[in-house]
Order: sequence, then C-alpha cells, then structure tokens
Amino acid sequence: MFEFSATPGQDKPTLYRELTEAALALTEGERDAIANMANLASLIWTYLPDLNWAGFYRLDPGKDELVLGPFIGKPACIRIPLGKGVCGTAASSRETQCVADVHAFPGHIACDAASRSELVVPVLRDGIVLAVIDLDSPLPARFDAEDAAGIEAFAAAIAPRI
Ligand code: SME
Repeated sequence: MFEFSATPGQDKPTLYRELTEAALALTEGERDAIANMANLASLIWTYLPDLNWAGFYRLDPGKDELVLGPFIGKPACIRIPLGKGVCGTAASSRETQCVADVHAFPGHIACDAASRSELVVPVLRDGIVLAVIDLDSPLPARFDAEDAAGIEAFAAAIAPRI
C-alpha cells in the first residue's frame, strides 16, 4: 500500500515540491508510461485541493492531435486537435495555459460543465511535446503563477517516466 499525502497547511511551493518528490518515488523503476501516468493523476488529485478533473492528454504520434490519457474526473473528450481548446493550444505553443475563466477562452472545450478555471502544462522531452497535464477546477481563477511554476517543475521531473 502506498501512503502519499500532502502536509496540511504548507505554502504552494512546498506543496508542489512534496508532490514532485512523491511522484518520483512512486514511479521509480517503473517503465510503463500508462501505469505511471495513472498513478501521477491520482497523486495530483490527492495533493491538490479544489479540482474536478486531473490527468493527461498524450500526443498521438503521426497525427496532429492529442488523445486522452489516464485521469481522475468525469469522462472527457477523447481527441483534441493541436491548436484547439486549452489543451491543444498548450501542446501547439509548447507553453503553459493558465485560464482564470474558461468561458472567456476562445475555443475552450467543455468536458465537465462544472469547470470554471483550467491549468494546462506541456510535458516535453528533448524539446518534443509528449503530453499535456490538464487540471480543471470548479472555482474561478483557482490557478496562479505558483501553481503554473509548480506543475511545470513536476512536468519536467516526470517527463522521463512517461
Ligand atoms: N477543457 C479542455 C478539454 C479537456 S477537459 O477539460 C478534461 C480544453 O479546452 O482543451
């Protein structure tokens, strides 16, 4: 049995440091990318409050689209063309998308009507997009620059494991 949980009451940089340390411990020695992404989605869900969806979209090699990967939350759209929605924009630009109000994002793809804000961070290996990490929240403006920096550091750390 794994016992991973966030220390209550710490600041965001510490929370994300703990999350990343737990992620590296949990995926240590396992080479199956799907298994690792499944556990990492669970870990994000366990550590971060106020989420209604957390998981991965993987780049489908040979196609200009993302395909749904392991996640926690409601069933979601399976394929997202590069450049479309928040996820496709993060993948095509290779830049984090921190969206305070999803209804104000042109082309936002609604998978859960409860979502109000969203953070999407590309996972790069050797400069190539492997996947994106997608976090949705029912709270407006749930994510700030510290969340973005924390998930970017997490993405860099776990890139060799997915
Ligand atoms: N909102 C995303 C689609 C994925 S769901 O949020 C899980 C987007 O606009 O790309």
